[in-house]
Order: sequence, then C-alpha cells, then structure tokens
Amino acid sequence: MAIKIAFCNRKGGSGKTTTAVHVAGALGIKGKRTLLVDCDPQAHASLWLLGEDFRGRCLMDVLTGKDLASQAIYETGMKGLSILPASSTLSGFEAEFIRKKGAAFLLGERLRDAEKEFDYVVFDTPPYIGLLLVSVLTWSRYVFATLPLQFLAVDGLRELDGLVKKVASRANRQLLLKGIIPVMFNRQLRSGWRLLGEIREQFGKEVMYPSIRQNVKLSEAPELHKTAFEYAPKSPGAQDYWHLTKMIESKLEMC
Ligand SMILES: Nc1ncnc2c1ncn2[C@@H]1O[C@H](COP(=O)(O)OP(=O)(O)OP(=O)(O)O)[C@@H](O)[C@H]1O
Ligand SMILES: [Mg+2]
Repeated sequence: MAIKIAFCNRKGGSGKTTTAVHVAGALGIKGKRTLLVDCDPQAHASLWLLGEDFRGRCLMDVLTGKDLASQAIYETGMKGLSILPASSTLSGFEAEFIRKKGAAFLLGERLRDAEKEFDYVVFDTPPYIGLLLVSVLTWSRYVFATLPLQFLAVDGLRELDGLVKKVASRANRQLLLKGIIPVMFNRQLRSGWRLLGEIREQFGKEVMYPSIRQNVKLSEAPELHKTAFEYAPKSPGAQDYWHLTKMIESKLEMC
C-alpha cells in the first residue's frame, strides 16, 4: 500500500504546492513510484507540471465518477512522478457533495485502486478548511504542515492540529500530524529563529523537520515547468528539499 502524505496549511501562499511538488519530485528521482494528487481548485501543481495547455481529465471527473482515477493519471516527464491533476471545476465539489452521506470518504474510495501502483501518494491541498481538505485528511496517513515563519501562520498551525485530531477521532484513526516544515526561512531574521523556538516548545522537537530557505530559484521554477532539481540543482532550494525528502523518507519508512 502506498504511503499517503498531505501538505497542508489553511493559509494561502504558505509553501504547500512548492513543497508537495519538490518532495514528490525528489521521491521520484530516488526511485519511488510517486503520485501527486492536486486537490486545489487553483490547480497550481497541475499548471506547474503539465503546463497551461493541458486539457485532460482531472480530479473532479474522478470524484463525480465520470472517469476512473487510472484514466486521469498523467506522467509528468520527470523520473518516477505522475500527477492526478486538478482544474477549476474542482471548486464545484463542495456544493455538489457536501450534503451527501459519507462525502469525505469519496476521494479515498475513488483513489483506492490506482494507489496500488505507487509507493507514495502526495496531496497538495487548498488554502481553506472545507470538504476537500477533510477528504484528504480522511484518506491520508501523515500530515505535514508547511509553515512560513510569521506570527499569524502559527495560529493556522494550531487550527490544523485541531482539525487533524478531530478527523483522526471520527474518521481516520491512523492520521497524524507528523511534521512541521518551516519554509521561506530567512536565517538573517531574528524573529524567525524566535518563532522556530516557540513552535518547537509548543509542538515538540520530534515534529520539527528541516527548514527550507527562502530561495528565488524555487519561485522561478513553476513557470519553467520544472523542479529546482532540474532547473538549479545546486541551489539552496534544491538542496533543502532534497535533505527534507531524505528525512521524510527515512522517518516514514521506519514506521
Ligand atoms: N522557499 C521559498 N523561497 C522563495 N519563494 C518561495 C519559497 N517557497 C514558496 N515560494 C513562493 O511563494 C509563493 C507561495 O508558495 P506556494 O504556491 O507553494 O504556496 P501555497 O501554500 O501552495 O499557496 P496557495 O495557498 O495559494 O495554494 C509562490 O510564489 C512560491 O513560488
Ligand atoms: Mg498551492
């Protein structure tokens, strides 16, 4: 069975997509068969990896039962990495399914068969709490919070921790907030270090994962439709995500 991990933070622009794409990309390079599932109607991961001209099947087609998941999975051209893309149609999921019984289990039911082909399933999630995020949490095993080191982001972290506990108690006993990944870290700023210390104190040092430095190569990568591993392999961004993925892999495969 695939190891299922979700990158979450209900705050917009907090590095979820950048982290999901790079961790999934690094896992692929390391020889793991990896599926990135884009669960955000903004479809940023899909635009990044498949380009603006992509007009194929998407996650909403799978959720509505129009297509099987296996029919909506595309190779990215990157070693070991496939994607189940999103499109803006996914924004209709909430309205269409919220009143249906067991709606939060639908994503897992629809992905179950396709998942068998992969070692890892990586979820990129939307920047709000709703049925899509709850569906991802209902089907994932490990949650990683991406966390820009700013005061307000910590507030969102507490909220995510509460949500994970709620879903774990009601629908998915295996679910765990496994790690906190500080992103866009500017080592020159004292406020960042202070916040890092506070988070470590509140959540425990065992959930702290290696931080990702602020690096322009990471913000340039999407429009080139590449990861930093291909576009700037020696950059701090590529190095940090490689190191992070090694840590994720070793901790999850020990479990
Ligand atoms: N370490 C970094 N250094 C510099 N820029 C970064 C870094 N990580 C992410 N960015 C940039 O910050 C912006 C937000 O990142 P990203 O899209 O990954 O966040 P997100 O949480 O997925 O956003 P959304 O909530 O809108 O989906 C993007 O422009 C991205 O290129
Ligand atoms: Mg995103």
